[in-house]
Amino acid sequence: MTTEARLKELLECEKPLSKRWRQPNAHKLDAYLADGGYKGLEIAKTKKPEEIIDAMKQANTRGRGGAGFPTGMKWGFLPPNRTETYLVINADESEPGTFKDRYIMERDPHLLLEGIAIASYAIKAQVCYVFIRGEFGLAMQRMNFAIEEAKAKGLFKDIQGVELQVYTHPGAGAYICGEETALLESLEGKRGYPRLKPPFPAVKGAFQKPTIVNNVETIILAPLVMTKGVEWFTKYGIEKCGGTKLYCVSGAVKKPGTYELPHHVTLRELVFDICGGMLPGRQLKGIVPGGSSVPILVPRPAPQLLPPLKEGETRDPKTKIPEEIDVRLDFESLRKVNSFLGSCGIIVIDDKTCIVRALLNLIQFYHHESCGQCTPCREGTGWLERMLLRVERGDGTPNDLETIYSAGKNIMGNTICALGDAAAMPTMSYFEKFKDEFVAHVRDHKCPYPAEEEILPSGWVL
Ligand SMILES: Cc1cc2nc3c(=O)[nH]c(=O)nc-3n(C[C@H](O)[C@H](O)[C@H](O)COP(=O)(O)O)c2cc1C
Ligand code: SF4
Repeated sequence: MTTEARLKELLECEKPLSKRWRQPNAHKLDAYLADGGYKGLEIAKTKKPEEIIDAMKQANTRGRGGAGFPTGMKWGFLPPNRTETYLVINADESEPGTFKDRYIMERDPHLLLEGIAIASYAIKAQVCYVFIRGEFGLAMQRMNFAIEEAKAKGLFKDIQGVELQVYTHPGAGAYICGEETALLESLEGKRGYPRLKPPFPAVKGAFQKPTIVNNVETIILAPLVMTKGVEWFTKYGIEKCGGTKLYCVSGAVKKPGTYELPHHVTLRELVFDICGGMLPGRQLKGIVPGGSSVPILVPRPAPQLLPPLKEGETRDPKTKIPEEIDVRLDFESLRKVNSFLGSCGIIVIDDKTCIVRALLNLIQFYHHESCGQCTPCREGTGWLERMLLRVERGDGTPNDLETIYSAGKNIMGNTICALGDAAAMPTMSYFEKFKDEFVAHVRDHKCPYPAEEEILPSGWVL
């Protein structure tokens, strides 16, 4: 049970990533400057580039596009003797369940531009491309407007002695172009095929030059590191991950939305206290914690979440065992329950949702979005889709069930990029945790869940 004090602590945390979202005209330069905007850039320019990279490291800033890679460390991978450097902002945001970067660009585009200017100064980039998902019309419009405003005010002048060039580039609707190397191919005007790594973009990126690719939310941490300092990041973060985080919650909850909270919030607190709990008449079935591609969590005991015992210590037998959904929402804690924080798209699934149909929906997406370069992903996602469709319609066989699981296992880790894993991980975890439901479809030759009882994506019930 969350105490009132704890809830107050969570709700009243500082929210520098999202605090301007509801202010009228917050996207305009005058309003941003009036709120103290571009002070971070001023501070950055008084420092050496290495000092900024160091501050990013000390603040424990981690990539927020999915993999959680330490940002300062990534910036430090650039070859020291380079002559050209690119900064590329990944604003593709196509992971189902994730909706945060769009709001940053629509509502606070100058915060992103300030982050871009600071990052460019730190990594000595002369050109920055912002690769924006094609469907994000307003975000594109606001970013272009903000770039013009910043240029006219001379804010990009003298970033390492040259005027920083910032360009927006629209994506063409392919999920795979969110993968950083497919994004670079697409930026270069080619088909969005992920590249083999190494070499990583920091060594050979856009146009074969050293390039840093970072997510939108990652880059807006740079101005905050400059203005708020490392202590602030420690205050709201946890050991290996600094600052607050944007969590996107969708599905069967009363108050879906994007919430900025400290990293030590738990999944249960977020769903049941902050988002108001389940929709009326619905019980919790499972929660996907990090965007559609990560393993699902369920309310079952997870003793691995208990604090480790010191030598010689024994556990009080009355100790309450936490459940998977009591996990703290940070990168390391989610590994303890065999899932990932990913892009923080939290999807809440209720008891009237058919898990086979939910998986089929996901696999149709991944099959459609597979670029086709690797056989396990191209063929495996197609097989999965066909078998799941059969099972859902009541035409599946026990053999299909075995093949579904083994197909997932065989895709896992055997592909050029992580899209293959993104299809395999939910397949295996849904199957492991809801095996009875898959079996019931085959045994009874029908789906036990009437489609009309499912919640539509908007939260409406038919
Ligand atoms: C299939 C696939 C899709 C991805 N989509 C996105 C995306 O839409 N946005 C994003 O920031 N990262 C996405 N990523 C992660 C990027 O490849 C990359 O790790 C990220 O942009 C690095 O930025 P960060 O270090 O700031 O997190 C995707 C990865 C894969 C495998
Ligand atoms: S895993 Fe899938 S999306 Fe990624 S490169 Fe291979 S075929 Fe393309």
